[in-house]
Amino acid sequence: MSGYNLRFAKRNCPDMKIYLAPMEGVVDFHMRNILTAVGGYDYCVTEFVRVVDRLLPSRVFKRICPELEHGGLTASGTPVIVQILGSDINAMADNARHIAKLGAPGIDINFGCPSKCVNKNDGGAILLKNPHRLYDIVRAVREGVAEAVPVSAKIRLGFDDTDLALENALAVAEAGASFITVHARTRKDGYKAPARWEWLARINQALDIPVVANGDINSVEDYQRCIDISACEQIMIGRGAIARPDLARQIVSHQHGLEISELDWAEVKEMLAGMAIELQDHIKDRYILPRIKQWLVHLKRQYDEAHRCFESVRLMRSYAEFEQLLKNS
Ligand SMILES: Cc1cc2nc3c(=O)[nH]c(=O)nc-3n(C[C@H](O)[C@H](O)[C@H](O)COP(=O)(O)O)c2cc1C
Repeated sequence: MSGYNLRFAKRNCPDMKIYLAPMEGVVDFHMRNILTAVGGYDYCVTEFVRVVDRLLPSRVFKRICPELEHGGLTASGTPVIVQILGSDINAMADNARHIAKLGAPGIDINFGCPSKCVNKNDGGAILLKNPHRLYDIVRAVREGVAEAVPVSAKIRLGFDDTDLALENALAVAEAGASFITVHARTRKDGYKAPARWEWLARINQALDIPVVANGDINSVEDYQRCIDISACEQIMIGRGAIARPDLARQIVSHQHGLEISELDWAEVKEMLAGMAIELQDHIKDRYILPRIKQWLVHLKRQYDEAHRCFESVRLMRSYAEFEQLLKNS
């Protein structure tokens, strides 16, 4: 049971912003369109683009962020920040400049990726071992991009432990980042609950740029507890956004003291169908069912009906069978 009276809570939080988290292989252009159409999100961040040692062609960025062809906005008008990952200072700055010229509403730098392969190649969370490197990368990207374009960074609390959490966050701020997103776990924590929101409070207190709180915000109650603990005004939602497609909208209603209405399964099922139809124009039929299954895995956390739907889809061999299921159910 929630300890909060959601219906009558009225909170004054003019700087509140909600970000849809980058999630490689899950939150792509299609998912961003679906979730931002439901409403509540102020910004999205793309999956990361890996920068090695040279300038990438425009098509690489447009593949990850097709919204660049539309002013950097989703179909419903939500700005999409492009995320880059890498450690070569010159290449990061050059690519950031290029992305900004393509019209991205912001550039985010990934210092949180836990992948062994990425870390072995000197990218993502491994850089959290050295705050000076974070500083140099953020500084170079900041200097490489016109001032009007926000540059931000997304960090974890550390690699193995939290010893450098504050130093890393301060390095990002001192290098000129417009804001910082903190995924409240170390790399070693992986994605295990609970996220350590108390660390968000420490970082938020130490920094004079906005701190975006991230990790384990899966309900309106989580949101309220997270901001109560951290005093952050901005949040980023990852897995919770996929499990509850209207979570951001629910949070906004809560913020305004409005009654919270929740999407029912029939509405969510329509979104699944919409996603499948949309994907047909972009990927081969055989890749559509895995995407639907992937979404259902998350939806199972919120919707009982998603369990049954998942079991049916699991046994399917073709997309045509899924179409039939939608027609019949
Ligand atoms: C499948 C998956 C892919 C992810 N891909 C990225 C990514 O490309 N860039 C990034 O900064 N974080 C990525 N993340 C981390 C999320 O953005 C987020 O920080 C994390 O899931 C914690 O938030 P949550 O508890 O709300 O899910 C990914 C997470 C998952 C589960």
